[in-house]
This record gives sequence, C-alpha cells and structure tokens, in this order.
Amino acid sequence: MILRTLPLLRRAVDNFRARKATIALVPTMGALHDGHLSLVRLAKRRAERVIVSIFVNPTQFAPTEDFGSYPRTWKADLAKLAAEKVDAIWHPDVKTMYPDGFATRIVPEGAATAGLEDRFRPHFFGGVATVVGKLFTQCRPDVAVFGEKDFQQLRVVAQMARDLDLGVRVIGSKTVRERDGLAMSSRNVYLSVEQRRAAPELFRAMKQSAARMRAGDGFTAALAAGTAIIRQAGFALDYLEVRHAETLAPAASVEDAPLRILVAARLGTTRLIDNMAV
Ligand code: PAF
Repeated sequence: MILRTLPLLRRAVDNFRARKATIALVPTMGALHDGHLSLVRLAKRRAERVIVSIFVNPTQFAPTEDFGSYPRTWKADLAKLAAEKVDAIWHPDVKTMYPDGFATRIVPEGAATAGLEDRFRPHFFGGVATVVGKLFTQCRPDVAVFGEKDFQQLRVVAQMARDLDLGVRVIGSKTVRERDGLAMSSRNVYLSVEQRRAAPELFRAMKQSAARMRAGDGFTAALAAGTAIIRQAGFALDYLEVRHAETLAPAASVEDAPLRILVAARLGTTRLIDNMAV
C-alpha cells in the first residue's frame, strides 16, 4: 500500500489501530540497500504492522550538499519493500511535509551538540529532528527503527522521543557491512572504482584503534594509529574520536565505558561516516 497524502496515511494508521495492531516505523530517504532491509526485518519482529517512509528531506541538507543528486531509486525501492511484505509505504511530497508558511522547527541539544557531525553539518540534526518528529506524529508508531551507522542521529532521535513524550520506542539496528567491511550506505554509489577500493580502510582503522584501546594503549596513541591508516588510504579526515556510547561525551580512558569510536572522512567529494563499539 503506497500512501502519498495525510488523509490516506491517517486512515491506514486508524485501521491498524482499530485492529489493535502494534506499528513499527522505518524512516528512510529511499535508495534502499541491504542495511535498510535489515531495519525492516527488525521492525517486523518488533511490531505487527510495518510502515516504511521514503522522503528525501530537504531541511537536513545544506545548500552546498547533495539534496539534488541524492540517489532516488523509487522503482527498485518498491520492489524491495514488496519482497519484504511491508504493510505501508509513506511517500509524501515536499509540499505535504513542508506546506507554504511552514515555520516550526525542532532544535535538539544534548547528543546533537556533541561536536561530531554537528561540527561539520550544523544544519543537519535540526532538519532530522523536525522531519522525524513529524513522521512520528503522522505515523503514530509504537517503535521506530534506525541504523546504528548514523550513531549520533540514533542518539539524537531517541532523546527527542523521550524528551517530547512521543510514545515511540527508538530501536537501533546493527550496521550491515559489505564483505570487505565497508558500511552499507546509499552514498557508496558515488565512489569511483579506486575510491571504493580504499573505502574499507575506514573500518580497518577503527578496528585497529579499538583493538589498541582494548589492549590498554592510551587513547591518543590508539587514535593516532587509526588516523595514519585513514590518511594513508587517501581520505581527508573530519574526525576520528572515542566517546561515551550513550551520552557521546568525550572519553579519556576505559573507565569511561561503554565506549564508541566514531569516524567521518571524505574521499574526493564523498563523505563517509562509520562507528564501532570498543
Ligand atoms: O537516516 C536517514 O535516512 C535520514 O536522516 C532520516 C532518519 C530518514 C530522516 O530524514
């Protein structure tokens, strides 16, 4: 069932609710890959009805970013979701989400100002929180599933759901990787053959840093080892950091556990992010 207007979405959600079915939402921007499908499968295990939203959200892109060229693969997405037997696909247009005169934004703090993605994409979490807040109120899910690949986003959205009493349980789903370790991402299609060959070094760098931390090395030395691998592979590094896995506050030693390594780096014009538990 493809739903493109709010009245149709409301009717479908009312219908699920009338049957006392629990609802899971999987918010996406389309260009679906196996990582997204693993979110859908987790959603199916957690609720009786699954709604997948497909909406490339303009407010989370800066004017210099790739909103216009973001991969849009509608037909292939539909085929994948049909094979997963999802109950509804919510596919609003920009006017439905942001009608003329739209003037309200959610401005997240806490994890959203941790100095990671927000340092390089200051507009990003405001756009994400606003659209996800709207998706939650539109779809009224019991649970919502987000990928751990966007780790800071997962933390921001979970906090927002708690802070605003949205009644949605936010669940994180493990990152799905290619065989060589590269985290699946809709943006991987931007990589040239040569860049694609270099890209898994990001994963190797995190593994190396995490292993050294676990072995008792100081964090500065452990991160320097990862940084060297990333630079050697031809990346321009935005950050490679270790943080508290829940609060994303800076971490200085294993005493600050649970720990998460987070990385963002650019190969040419393509920016990749990834993370890993220590
Ligand atoms: O992770 C994404 O694909 C997007 O940021 C989301 C959560 C669908 C909001 O537009």
